[in-house]
Amino acid sequence: MTRRPFIAGNWKMHKAPVEADALAEQLKRALADVTAVDIAVSPTFLAIPAVVSRLRHSNIGVASQNVAVETQGAYTGEVSAEMLKAVGVQYAIVGHSERRQLYGDTDAVVARKVQACFRAGLSPILCVGETLPEREAGQEELVCARQLEIALAGLTADQVGTVTIAYEPVWAIGTGKVASPTQANDVHAFIRSWLGRYPAFVARSVRIQYGGSVKGSNAAGLLSQPEIDGALVGGAALSVEEFVAIIKAAV
Ligand code: 13P
Repeated sequence: MTRRPFIAGNWKMHKAPVEADALAEQLKRALADVTAVDIAVSPTFLAIPAVVSRLRHSNIGVASQNVAVETQGAYTGEVSAEMLKAVGVQYAIVGHSERRQLYGDTDAVVARKVQACFRAGLSPILCVGETLPEREAGQEELVCARQLEIALAGLTADQVGTVTIAYEPVWAIGTGKVASPTQANDVHAFIRSWLGRYPAFVARSVRIQYGGSVKGSNAAGLLSQPEIDGALVGGAALSVEEFVAIIKAAV
């Protein structure tokens, strides 16, 4: 397997700038010797400048948790991909289930946000995943396929090849109910086969992260699966010890 593992920590609406800066500093020290894993953290917009500056010349990149569809203009409360790029952000999480469920990010909006990332030069981390009723109805593949199809429409194969996909089953997010390594790997394998509609290099290069109750104690089991290339970590990313343990499990 030639894909480099990619572990990202989604800090959600935690850690105001002073605390975020302190957490970034601790992670920078604790992870300085890691060379075999791509690492990113995703602070609140407000803390992004402090964290970018703290992590400059480190092996940890910075992701935003969202991006606006538009570049600039009368869009109260929004932050554009271009603005994020200008302050040193590399990645953007797009289509997180909390955005989809709580803030009305439809598949069509998610697609425009993915395009906004490419317009500005940010690498999207595109989240997909089914809810509990959808899983119970056996629709996990159908849901992921629909989300991928709409979000990636209009991109070139070269662009799709650089997207990170995060499979985050909604029932596993913040619930402590982690998908089993096999359950997660099965959906990852489906996503990779779905990518088979593009030239072969795309399915070979796209990294698929698993997200949903990942912690130090379950990371090795998940990350040892052939189709799981990394993790998008929520709660456990707020603890230096836990986040470092997850990254060490990926080495
Ligand atoms: P938890 O790791 O807290 O379940 O959150 C996962 C997630 O939503 C990451 O984006």
